[in-house]
Amino acid sequence: MSRTAKVIILFIAVIAVGWGIGKYTSPSPSASQEEGASAGTGDGVLAPPVADPEASAEPSAVPVATPQATAAPQQTGSGTEDEPSAAPTAKPEPTEKPAATSRPAATAKPSGGSGSEGAELTAAEPDSVTVMVNKQYKLPDGYKPADLVYPEVPFLFSEKIEKRMMRKTAASALEKMFAGAKSDGIHLAGVSAYRSEKTQTTLFNNYVKRDGEDKARTYSAVPGHSEHQTGLAIDISGSDGKCAAESCFGGTKEAEWLAAHAAEYGFIIRYPEGKQAITGYKYEPWHVRYVGQEIAGDIAERGITLEEYYDAVPVSN
Ligand code: DAL
Ligand code: ZN
Repeated sequence: MSRTAKVIILFIAVIAVGWGIGKYTSPSPSASQEEGASAGTGDGVLAPPVADPEASAEPSAVPVATPQATAAPQQTGSGTEDEPSAAPTAKPEPTEKPAATSRPAATAKPSGGSGSEGAELTAAEPDSVTVMVNKQYKLPDGYKPADLVYPEVPFLFSEKIEKRMMRKTAASALEKMFAGAKSDGIHLAGVSAYRSEKTQTTLFNNYVKRDGEDKARTYSAVPGHSEHQTGLAIDISGSDGKCAAESCFGGTKEAEWLAAHAAEYGFIIRYPEGKQAITGYKYEPWHVRYVGQEIAGDIAERGITLEEYYDAVPVSN
């Protein structure tokens, strides 16, 4: 073979090899596109998938439930902690008493629960008409309602003094209740409504001196723990004043009328007969407490106490 022929053959060979290399290497661009496509599916099964699913799940789920989901970016665990704390504020949940429940009053719903048994707790929302004040839940020190007024109903005394006052909403409901009773031929009279912490202290101390602390606690609240301090409670008697705030009031036509109709006006018989183990107090057919018609109706219909309504722990002494 001549030298020229060898050169030609070599040249052709070089071209052929070059073509071959080009053919099998140029496809890389399209190959990268395939990877990109497959990364979203099969390829991502390892690393990305872990992150992606969370990211996609959160936006769709969270946003719908709670807006602040943004605060819990799909950054793994931190979001989990944020959510629980956020959720409580959104719902009337069980921890923040109050209130729980979706009811309006929920605000004051006690957290209740086994862990808090026996512990003295302070009502978180003392101004709520559904606040629970009992042997476990007290009012904040020095609490005084801001909207006390004199209800226009008869009392057993004529002076415009502290114990004639009630919070505005309760006073208005009381006026309607007295009018309703009157139209049924029942003549009611107020005995004692609002009491300051100071007055309750004097009263309680006097009862302790008279009967001893253990006995006094069965019918009188320790200062800070009396519903009378909320301006939402009142002791009622017949207009003749017989058996005012005494056990013989039970069974009178006035007591029976109250038991049957108080709830229609938003009041409950707060310390019912046979419930001392739950309320901590003896039967007081004269002591009514304003909680609003919805809750009062529910409590009356079910024959329960405010403690039971809130599912709180019984307060027996
Ligand atoms: N008699 C009720 C319990 C009070 O003292 O508030
Ligand atoms: Zn009372």
